[in-house]
Amino acid sequence: MEKYVIEGGHKLHGEIPVYGAKNEALKIIAASVLLEGKCTIKNIPEIEDINRLVEILEDLGAKVERNGHEITIDPQSINKTKPSDDLVHKLRSSVMLAGPLLAHYGKVTMAHPGGCVIGQRPIDMFLSGFKAMGAKVEENDHEYTLQAKKLHGAKIVMPWVMVTATESLMMTACLAEGTTTIINAAMEPEIPALADFLNSCGAKISGAGTPIITIEGVEKLSGGECTIIPDRIEAGTFAIMGLITGSEITVTGCEPKHLETVLETLRRANAKLEVGDNWIKTKPSKLKAVELRTHEYPGFPTDLQSPFTILMTQAEGMSLIHEAIYEGRLFYTDKLNAMGAKIIMCDPHRVIVSGPTPLIAKKLESPDLRAGMGLVLAGLVAEGKTVIDNIYQIERGYENPIARLQALGAKIEKIKE
Ligand code: EPZ
Repeated sequence: MEKYVIEGGHKLHGEIPVYGAKNEALKIIAASVLLEGKCTIKNIPEIEDINRLVEILEDLGAKVERNGHEITIDPQSINKTKPSDDLVHKLRSSVMLAGPLLAHYGKVTMAHPGGCVIGQRPIDMFLSGFKAMGAKVEENDHEYTLQAKKLHGAKIVMPWVMVTATESLMMTACLAEGTTTIINAAMEPEIPALADFLNSCGAKISGAGTPIITIEGVEKLSGGECTIIPDRIEAGTFAIMGLITGSEITVTGCEPKHLETVLETLRRANAKLEVGDNWIKTKPSKLKAVELRTHEYPGFPTDLQSPFTILMTQAEGMSLIHEAIYEGRLFYTDKLNAMGAKIIMCDPHRVIVSGPTPLIAKKLESPDLRAGMGLVLAGLVAEGKTVIDNIYQIERGYENPIARLQALGAKIEKIKE
């Protein structure tokens, strides 16, 4: 088993680059299945989730060439629309392939997706959206099958904001006959980025990035190319890493415009930050406790809740953390209490953090992608050597974290035990 070993208590210095957004790259790769030509995607992060999704595409018969942060996909040789179950179970984003396969090939059978244990994460809204567009949906506890000769446009009202469901239905509607309207759509920056790519391939999407998206179906989509936007969750995580270690570091190649609520929340916590057009610099700060509520974009992203909660263990006072999106995304806090934090769980959506408390190194298991990286941040400030296993979860979403953190002077290494 590979593990991270982190010796805490060291200040960091220098620069850390941000790579392409995982949660855009995965959707662009899925959308490539809609195309009648090749697509080239630049600034793709080299992470496990991308590897898994590429494996699924190749399993379906697509041709994929990878060259570092660039990938070229030729979906024209796809010859089946039932991806292998064990690949599908490895990541939730596998569900993103269902709509494009249905829209382009008329039939798809897929096992229910896997992904983080952060909550229920059903796909009922995906399936009801496909049904609204005319698909026949058959489902058992193991897999679901979608069929449609030709999808038609529909009015789809999301009961609450859902990111991948919005993206999936938006891309699927590109090949439906007529107009589809998605009401109460998610507005994450990755969604207009996805729409821009699809429009460059001949789609007719308007309103992406607002709560109402309109898609005029077209006969077919050509190939194309795009460059993935910077990963705002990486950027926020690294800025918090600089603050929690009391360091002066610069996060480079990021898009601060996508982090306005995060930067404002950090400043409310008395964080000293300098922000340029594509960089964020942290300075040693005397942090104070603030209340946090996660919210869909442009609110504070749930994916940064765990790094922020860990930051609050080092802030003066009591902070209330309200994880409003997921019912299972605060259970990692018992691991922080084992390290010496003082966190009370009020209910599955709320914890109260009292700080500052010194943290002591522990042997920990990464529960999921974002909490796993949060535990790395805790290890950077804990006294002693923290060991984190199940690091596959972390490497699902962060490219080469060891090299990037070592370049900042972090005492972190990957060992095999
Ligand atoms: C996306 O997950 C992201 N994943 C998550 O990032 C992110 O935390 C989340 O959006 C919220 O921002 C990807 O983009 C691959 P949702 P997703 O659809 O699509 C419920 C990471 O760390 N729901 O917005 O699963 C669902 O249970 C990952 O990169 C339904 O009820 O989030 C949740 O409570 C973790 N039915 C809520 O909606 C459905 O059909 C929000 O889900 C779909 C979702």
